[in-house]
Amino acid sequence: MNLTTRTQFHRTNRHHTGIGWKTTNWASVWERAVLPEAERAMIRVARQHETQHFLLVGDSGAGKSTLIRQLLLQVRERGETAIVYDPAREYVPQFLDSDRGDMILNPLDARMPYWNPSDELLHPTEADAIAKALFPDREREIPFFIDGPRTIFAHLLKYRPTPEQLCRWLSKPDPEIYRRVAGTPIQSIISKFADNQREGVLGMLERASRVLSLLPTTASKCSLSRDSISAVEQFPRRIQITFGGAPNMALKSLKSASWLTIT
Ligand SMILES: Nc1ncnc2c1ncn2[C@@H]1O[C@H](COP(=O)(O)OP(=O)(O)OP(=O)(O)O)[C@@H](O)[C@H]1O
Ligand SMILES: [Mg+2]
Repeated sequence: MNLTTRTQFHRTNRHHTGIGWKTTNWASVWERAVLPEAERAMIRVARQHETQHFLLVGDSGAGKSTLIRQLLLQVRERGETAIVYDPAREYVPQFLDSDRGDMILNPLDARMPYWNPSDELLHPTEADAIAKALFPDREREIPFFIDGPRTIFAHLLKYRPTPEQLCRWLSKPDPEIYRRVAGTPIQSIISKFADNQREGVLGMLERASRVLSLLPTTASKCSLSRDSISAVEQFPRRIQITFGGAPNMALKSLKSASWLTIT
C-alpha cells in the first residue's frame, strides 16, 4: 500500500469520473494548471472500480462516517440503488425515504416489510439453501442435530406456509410436524422411538421458530420478495439493513437465510 498526496493521486488518476471525496487542502500549482476548478479538491476513483471494496480506516471521530455519507449522497444524486448495512442506524434518518420505495430490513423495526421465506422458492431445492442458513454448520454440534432440522425445515417450507404457520408448526411440533412428515423418509428423523434424537431435533426447530416469530405476520402494503428485489433495477430504491446489537443476535441466521443470500 502506498500513501500518496492528493496532487500525486491526481497526476495518475485525473481522468477518473467515479465516486469521489472532497478534500480541503489548497490546490497545488499543478492542480490549478491542469484540473477544472470543481475537480481540484476531489479525489475520485475510476467508475469501473466502484464495485470493488473500499476500506475507510481512522480513529474514532476521524471522519469515516462522514465519508460514507458523501458516498451515499453521490449514489442518491445519480438515482442509483444502495444497500446500506447499518447496525447502528446512523444513516437511516438522513437516507431512508419511504416515498421513494426504500425499505428497512429489520424485524425489530415497525417499518419492516412483510416477507415470507416460502415465497423465495422458485425451485424446491432452494428450500435447502434457506434451511442451511437457518441451521448453519457448528463445529461442536453432532451433524445429525444440524442435518435433521435442516431436512425437516426444508420439507416444511415446500408446503409454502405463511411465517405464522411455520412458527406454529415448529413451536408446537406435535402433531403438526409429525403429520407433515408422515409417510416420507424424513419421518425416521423424529421417530417416536428415538427419544433423544427427537428432542434434540425438535429443540433446534423450536429455536428457529423463535427467530421466525420476529417476522411481520400479515401482508401489509409493503412486502418483500425476490421479485421486489429484482425490480430494483427498474425501480431504483435504497434498501437499509439494520441488523445489529445484542438483542438482535437471533437475527443473524435470519439475515443469512433471507435477502442477502437468496437474491
Ligand atoms: N473533513 C472534515 N472536516 C471537519 N470536520 C469533519 C470532517 N470530517 C468529519 N468531521 C466532523 O468530525 C466529527 C466526527 O466525524 P465522523 O462521525 O464521520 O467520524 P467517525 O470516524 O465515523 O467516528 P466514529 O469512529 O466514532 O464512528 C463529526 O462531527 C464530523 O462532522
Ligand atoms: Mg462513524
